[in-house]
Amino acid sequence: MTDSKTANLILPDQELKLPLILGTEGENAVDISHLRDSTGFITLDDGYGNTGSCESAITYIDGEKGILRYRGYPIEQLAEKSDFVETAYLVIYGELPTIDQRTRFSALLTENAAIHERMVYLFESYPRDAHPMALLGAMVNALACYYPHLATNNHNRDIENFDEAAATLISKVRTITAMAYRMSRGLPVIYPKRGLRYCENFMHMLFSEPYDLYDCPPVVAKALNLILLLHADHEQNCSTAAVRMVASSGANLFASAAAGICGLWGPLHGGANMAVIEMLEAIHQEGDDGSRFITEAKAGKRRLMGFGHRVYKNYDPRAKIIGKTCDELLKTLGVSDPLLDIARHLEQAALKDSYFIERKLYPNVDFYSGIIMRAIGIPLNMFTVMFAIGRMPGWVANWREVATTSKPRIYRPRQIYMGKTARDYVAKEDRK
Ligand SMILES: CC(C)(COP(=O)(O)OP(=O)(O)OC[C@H]1O[C@@H](n2cnc3c(N)ncnc32)[C@H](O)[C@@H]1OP(=O)(O)O)[C@@H](O)C(=O)NCCC(=O)NCCS
Repeated sequence: MTDSKTANLILPDQELKLPLILGTEGENAVDISHLRDSTGFITLDDGYGNTGSCESAITYIDGEKGILRYRGYPIEQLAEKSDFVETAYLVIYGELPTIDQRTRFSALLTENAAIHERMVYLFESYPRDAHPMALLGAMVNALACYYPHLATNNHNRDIENFDEAAATLISKVRTITAMAYRMSRGLPVIYPKRGLRYCENFMHMLFSEPYDLYDCPPVVAKALNLILLLHADHEQNCSTAAVRMVASSGANLFASAAAGICGLWGPLHGGANMAVIEMLEAIHQEGDDGSRFITEAKAGKRRLMGFGHRVYKNYDPRAKIIGKTCDELLKTLGVSDPLLDIARHLEQAALKDSYFIERKLYPNVDFYSGIIMRAIGIPLNMFTVMFAIGRMPGWVANWREVATTSKPRIYRPRQIYMGKTARDYVAKEDRK
């Protein structure tokens, strides 16, 4: 919404009135869209901490107050009352589904669960120990080869088939992940089973054997639903911004989602849930209870993984929800995990420490999600893939916003060049 007020920008020898934009939750922005055309100046914002790259109606975060809402619904209410598939529908289509819409969406997910038989050969050509995130990125991009009618790279045509493409992606990402897991262990591939719900079907494809079906305990399905739901979207983070960037070129949903997977892989983003467990294991092996680690983190020698967030400068609301579920799950499953004790000690120590308080560093969602995944049998190298499965609805919804924008424009940031000024080519023999 454009506010009638303006901001005055005073530059050497010129002054410019810039429109103010007001978000529906009262967020203020200065619209600099015509800054360069009018003045020749650009803005510089390292890490984009002050830059709104788009207008979006999907997710609202107030990092200072610890608020997260999908399409207006508080994350706490969705975590308590909804499940992953319903929340995925909400994130993608903007409203909670009616009973009919929910039934049709579930049916579409079931129809699209199996992967193209020839993709199995693709899997087989990768090394057995390939990282699941590398595999997932490759396979999601490869979906465009097997389902070209869903990936024309013409947004108008791709939008006509959007429902099928979205369901393909959200359903198959689970099948691809399970297949990668089975093949990496030399186990027979287990196909999706009609009648099972999203999370139960995923656990079935991971852990059933041809002679012994895995019976997913309700507490496990609930915890998995929660993890995926809490990751469903998180506005303009690194991977989602990558999805929108690629989508803005006109690229199809699969290519854009594959870019998101690559963005998510790094340890400062989706890779953090793995890094948390690695950190807790290292602390355990060193015989530390976390105290030494905190001292080293404060000295800048180590980083407390699962702590801190670019946006949340208060408790991450997802961490509160998941911390509680983590306790309940371990209790119900009768699992005692020394890493949870270390995690609790780290949390308590950091929350009292002025270093962490002054820098507003609180546990984020990754701090506990890894312990839950460990408890339900998900191997460490698949943690980031689990995050990707959860984030898929958010990427799909963001792709849709870009693809349906009334004024399509490729994303193309500027830079301030700090390199060498013009110089002449030096012949090989004259180089020093
Ligand atoms: C998430 C993260 C990348 C945010 O980074 P950021 O907003 O760029 O914050 P900065 O890296 O500028 O950190 C600000 C200050 O806090 C410190 N800090 C940030 N996260 C820290 C952590 N996890 N452990 C110890 N110190 C930390 C930095 O060293 C810096 O200190 P300084 O001001 O003395 O130099 C960062 O907090 C981090 O690396 N956390 C661990 C990884 C993680 O859990 N990522 C998942 C995010 S969901």
